Amino acid sequence: MPNLLIVGTQWGDEGKGKIVDLLTSAFDIIARYQGGHNAGHTVFLKGKKIVLHTIPSGILHPGKLCIIGNGVVIDPKAFFHEIEELKKFGVNIDNNLFISKGAHLILPYHVLIEKTLEESKGDKKIGTTCRGIGPAYEDKAARTGIRVGDLLNLDILKEKIFRNVEEKNKILILYNKSPLNPEEIFEEYKIYSQKMEKYIKDTTWILNKKIEEGKTVLFEGAQGTLLDIDHGTYPYVTSSNPTSGGVCCGLGISPDKVNGILGVTKAYTTRVGMGPFPTEIFDQTGEILRRNGNEFGATTGRPRRCGWFDAVAVKYALKINGIKSIALTKIDVLDDLDEIKICVNYKYKGEILKTFPTEDWILNEVEPIYKKFKGWKEKTKGITDFNSLPLLTKTYINAIEELIEAEINIISTGVERKNTIIKSKKTLSKFVNLEKLNL
Ligand code: GDP
Ligand code: IMO
Ligand code: MG
Repeated sequence: MPNLLIVGTQWGDEGKGKIVDLLTSAFDIIARYQGGHNAGHTVFLKGKKIVLHTIPSGILHPGKLCIIGNGVVIDPKAFFHEIEELKKFGVNIDNNLFISKGAHLILPYHVLIEKTLEESKGDKKIGTTCRGIGPAYEDKAARTGIRVGDLLNLDILKEKIFRNVEEKNKILILYNKSPLNPEEIFEEYKIYSQKMEKYIKDTTWILNKKIEEGKTVLFEGAQGTLLDIDHGTYPYVTSSNPTSGGVCCGLGISPDKVNGILGVTKAYTTRVGMGPFPTEIFDQTGEILRRNGNEFGATTGRPRRCGWFDAVAVKYALKINGIKSIALTKIDVLDDLDEIKICVNYKYKGEILKTFPTEDWILNEVEPIYKKFKGWKEKTKGITDFNSLPLLTKTYINAIEELIEAEINIISTGVERKNTIIKSKKTLSKFVNLEKLNL
C-alpha cells in the first residue's frame, strides 16, 4: 500500500485532524512536514475533544510512529505542554515520537518580536497566531536559526542563543521593549535539551529506511493551500509550504514517495486572521455557520470568518497540489440553511477571470458570481451512507464535484470518526487499505 498526503485546500481548519485520525489506522507512520503550533487539529476520541498542535494527530493511535520533520518549527515549551495534555487523555508518548534534528526552534524572542511587529502594523497586520512561527522561519532563511539538533551541544547552543539575543535586543529596544536576558533563555533551553534528547533523531534517514522496508506513511499537512507562502494570498499567509511540494523538503523524501494526495475541503469556507476573502458572509447566515460549525480557532479561540464555498479558489488549490480526490467535511453545518451558494466565477473590472488571482488588491475587488442551491433543511449529522443523504444534499455535493473537477471520496457528517461516508471505495482503496479503518 502506498503513502498518502493530506492537504488542506482552503485557508486551513478544513477538518484535517478528523480525516487524519480517520485514516491513521491504515498507515504505519504519521509525519508532519511544515508549520508549527499555529496549527490546531481537532480530534474527538471517545467523545472527548483533543486538539493537536505540533504533534501529528496519529499519536492518538497506539503503535503508530509519529515524526515531526525538519520543515516544522518547534517551541519546546508548547511541545512539552502538548505532551502533558495528551498524557491527561491517557495517550502514551515514548518511543512513538521522533523529532528531526533539522527542525528549527522557536525562541522567546521570536514570539516577542512577532507580537511587537504585528502591533506596530495597525490595520495592515496579518493577524498571525503570534506563536513566533514567521520569525522562526525568517531566521531559518537568514541562516541564523537554532535547530533542534543544536540542543545536543550546549556550547553551540549557548553561543547561538547569545549571538541571536544580542541581535534581537537591538530590535526590541528600537520598539521600546525590554531587552531579553540570554542567560535566562539558555538556562531554560538547557532543561529542554535534556527533556527533548530522547525524541531527537535523524528522521530523514529513518523515514526513508522505513519506506524502503515497506512501511506506509500518512503525511499530515497543516494550514492550507491559500495560506502557502508561495501559492497563497500573500502577504496574508503563513511562512511555510503546506502545499504538496512542501512534503519533500519538509521531510527529506523524494516526490515518488508520495503516492496519493487527498485534499480536505470544507463544504463552505472559513478564514482566521486578516486577508482577502471574496465569499465572506457578513450577515446572519455567517453567524449561523459560525455557530453550527463551531467556527472558533482551535489554537487562538478567535472567531473564524465564514463564507460560501468558493469553487474558484478550491479548483486552484487542487491544481497546485495535484489533488484528484477530496474529503468533503462539515456538510452537516449547512443543514439549517434555506439557501446555499457556491461561487463559480470571479468578475473583475467587468471581466470573468480565468485564473485565481493571489494578489490581495485584486481579490479584494473581485465580485463572486454565485450559483444558488435550495437548502435541504434536514439533519445530515452522523449519516454514514451516501444514499441516505437528502436529495438536495446530494445535488449540492455533486455540483461541487463537477465544479472543482475532482472526486469526492469521503464525506464528513460530524466531529466523530464514525460520522463519515466513504463515498467511492474503489478510488480511495487505491491509496488506503479500507479494511483497516475503524469506522
Ligand atoms: P484542521 O485544522 O483542519 O484539523 O481543522 P480544525 O480542527 O481546526 O477545525 C475543524 C473543526 O470542525 C473541528 O472543531 C472539528 O471537530 C470539526 N469538524 C470536523 N469535521 C466535521 C464535520 O464533518 N462536521 C462538523 N460539524 N464538525 C466537523
Ligand atoms: P490548521 O493546521 C487556520 C493563519 C493565521 C494567520 C496566518 C499567519 O489548524 O489548519 P502564522 O501564525 O502562521 O504566521 O499566521 O495564518 N493560520 C491558520 N489559519 N488554520 C491554521 O492551521 C492556521 N495556521 C496559521 O490565522 O492568518
Ligand atoms: Mg485548525
